[in-house]
Amino acid sequence: MRVLVIGSGGREHAICWAFSRCAGVEKVFCADGNAGIAGVAERVDVSPTAVMELAEFAAAHDIGLTFVGGESALALGIVDEFRRRGLRIIGADRAGARLESSKAFAKDFMSRHGIPTARSAVAESGAEAEQVLESGFFGGLESPVVVKADGLAAGKGVVVAESRDEAVAAIRDLASVAGDAASRIVLEERLVGREVSLLLFADGRDFAMMPPVRDHKRIFDGDKGPNTGGMGTIADASLLTDSDTDFISERIVRPTLDGCAAEGFPFKGILFIGLMMTPEGPKVLEYNTRFGDPETQVIMRLLETDLTDICMAVDEGSLRDLEISWSKDSAACVVLASRGYPAGKQVGDVIYGLDIVEGRDGVVVFHAGTAVDGHGNIVTAGGRVLGVTARAPRLGDALDGAYRAVNDISWNGMHYRRDIGTT
Ligand code: AMP
Ligand code: GLY
Repeated sequence: MRVLVIGSGGREHAICWAFSRCAGVEKVFCADGNAGIAGVAERVDVSPTAVMELAEFAAAHDIGLTFVGGESALALGIVDEFRRRGLRIIGADRAGARLESSKAFAKDFMSRHGIPTARSAVAESGAEAEQVLESGFFGGLESPVVVKADGLAAGKGVVVAESRDEAVAAIRDLASVAGDAASRIVLEERLVGREVSLLLFADGRDFAMMPPVRDHKRIFDGDKGPNTGGMGTIADASLLTDSDTDFISERIVRPTLDGCAAEGFPFKGILFIGLMMTPEGPKVLEYNTRFGDPETQVIMRLLETDLTDICMAVDEGSLRDLEISWSKDSAACVVLASRGYPAGKQVGDVIYGLDIVEGRDGVVVFHAGTAVDGHGNIVTAGGRVLGVTARAPRLGDALDGAYRAVNDISWNGMHYRRDIGTT
């Protein structure tokens, strides 16, 4: 079978890598990829959001399975368009993608279905959001509040404000940072606890959970500085106890999927639930209707079942008949970013050391923002540049392996966190 993956980041490199290892896969294509993806897939020069062109490519090249990496194409309805043409595709349809593409929709959905989440209010304008704050809805002047743009904002639409003044400033800045995505604003009480990313495959009725992952979202060690797309991840069974897992399955996942079906959009694809483990139990921070980045990089290192078999089961609604097997190992991913990330990015710097580390200590390096320059060098081409992953029976050894590889990789302005998996 020929497979088409849509996207160009570290997540898509990990997905292409997993497909390239499947027994029945003849060839993997990726639109539009990066320098690392070119090692496991043929790059296709079509933008990941050019829905019609992608569908035409899939039809013309006998693609048996298309897999969507990111949220933008899902929100544009790529899945609906492929299905309309009789092309097999894995991802949420436009209706399902609203769980991610509108935070206001997601909050209402959770309240309709009794799913534990932070208390919130939706405002139709910045002025209305400020009024909600003044009304005392979120407690006294110093109670922290989280300010969120309603729509998709590539990770830039959320500010966890420490004080009322910071919240007001965030509301006023949101339009310039997030544009149209901020035409509605969601205010939330701030939840305290540790975060867990829980991802699952869903076939419209049944689901299969993936190993729990912790992402490290802030740019600096000790969880300091602004939020990023994610600076590193660990996948480790100890992140959730059995009773946490049961609670999440029965009180969060099941009502979410039943709610989607009851509202007329049975959810098929990948659901990513961002959870806060609060003293009152797990609560939903957000839904994403796709794989996470860099969650996928560690998840794919542990997946033992062919990804194509899982995709077929998702598509056919037969997940309950498939036993998905995961390695008992732990996995770690350290993200290497370019100077200036997340506010900006310095690009075009030659990356050294990639050839030394690959395969050593169970290491696999997934590329995000990389390109090949006119001399054949691999150079930086984005904010997040590489995800260095390693797996081992013990988490500490996986982290050591990843950091040993990181020590041998360098470029001008490379930045990474030294505390992945330890905070
Ligand atoms: P979201 O895109 O909604 O997941 O928000 C991005 C990040 O902001 C989350 O991963 C959390 O680190 C943080 N965050 C979002 N909502 C809250 C909340 N209600 N309380 C505390 N932190 C939050
Ligand atoms: N790493 C968080 C995300 O993919 O949204």
